[in-house]
Amino acid sequence: MTLTVGVLGVGHLMAHVVPGLMRAGSPPKVLLSARNKERSAALAERFDLEICAENEDLIRRSDVVIVAVRPFDVEETITGLPWRAEQIVLSFAGTVSRSTFEPHVNGADVVLAMPVITAEFGESPTSIWPANAGVQALMASCGPVIAFETESQFKAASGSGAYFGWVQALIMEMTDWLSAKGVPEDQARAVIAGMTRAGAVSASKRSDTPLPALINDLCLPGSLTGQGLDILKDADAFSPWRAAAESIFERHIGNS
Ligand SMILES: NC(=O)c1ccc[n+]([C@@H]2O[C@H](COP(=O)([O-])OP(=O)(O)OC[C@H]3O[C@@H](n4cnc5c(N)ncnc54)[C@H](OP(=O)(O)O)[C@@H]3O)[C@@H](O)[C@H]2O)c1
Repeated sequence: MTLTVGVLGVGHLMAHVVPGLMRAGSPPKVLLSARNKERSAALAERFDLEICAENEDLIRRSDVVIVAVRPFDVEETITGLPWRAEQIVLSFAGTVSRSTFEPHVNGADVVLAMPVITAEFGESPTSIWPANAGVQALMASCGPVIAFETESQFKAASGSGAYFGWVQALIMEMTDWLSAKGVPEDQARAVIAGMTRAGAVSASKRSDTPLPALINDLCLPGSLTGQGLDILKDADAFSPWRAAAESIFERHIGNS
């Protein structure tokens, strides 16, 4: 039987996640909330989806309800709706804890998840907690799903949604540098983004090799990689990345 997935909050994130869900071999039936009419209408037209005029109707008809409103809108959005114990509430609202949902959802299972917008291309690493087979199957068409054992692990990992943005800032910096050397900007961007992806593929696909060994393999004596890495280390270039990650972590823990 086809799963029915309701989406409460059709904003920037869901404009990219809904296309990811529709990549599945047997996509779910998706019901969209009506509040952001332009976005809902564009998705509805592109994928032949239904828009529910009322959130009550969406909740009544859904097996899984994705909550993708801004964190400060969650409680008002979910209160007073006809939730059922056999439903799954799948929250994408980053810092909002399960304990915020539980008093309002009549015993429905609450699962927290952190996808990113590359879900559209099937390339979102989606952290979830707790593990849930239904959610893992649903989100698989958006990219790899990583289930954590504890909420604190999930919260620490979900800060990586910010890292996704920082990496793009690094790509911008290196693209600027390369195009300043006379390489056309589109080609500079393709090369730098491609190398960033290649580094990520190596780190994830060669998971049986420790990261220091992967790096050492590239830093043979006299290598250009080693020369540049020495300059980065001498400038303590990685410490600010840790500091930025630490500040995100503190914010997650502070909200729990
Ligand atoms: N953007 C990302 O890349 C990303 C990644 C991971 C997680 N997240 C999380 O995902 C959530 C959504 O982020 P976003 O960037 O997509 O925000 P967004 O663009 O502001 O989208 C949220 C949408 O929810 C709508 N909304 C608010 N209350 C509603 C209600 N009661 N019923 C139906 N719709 C309602 C808003 O409408 P109005 O504008 O009219 O209020 C808006 O269209 C946030 O909690 C964010 O932290 C975002």
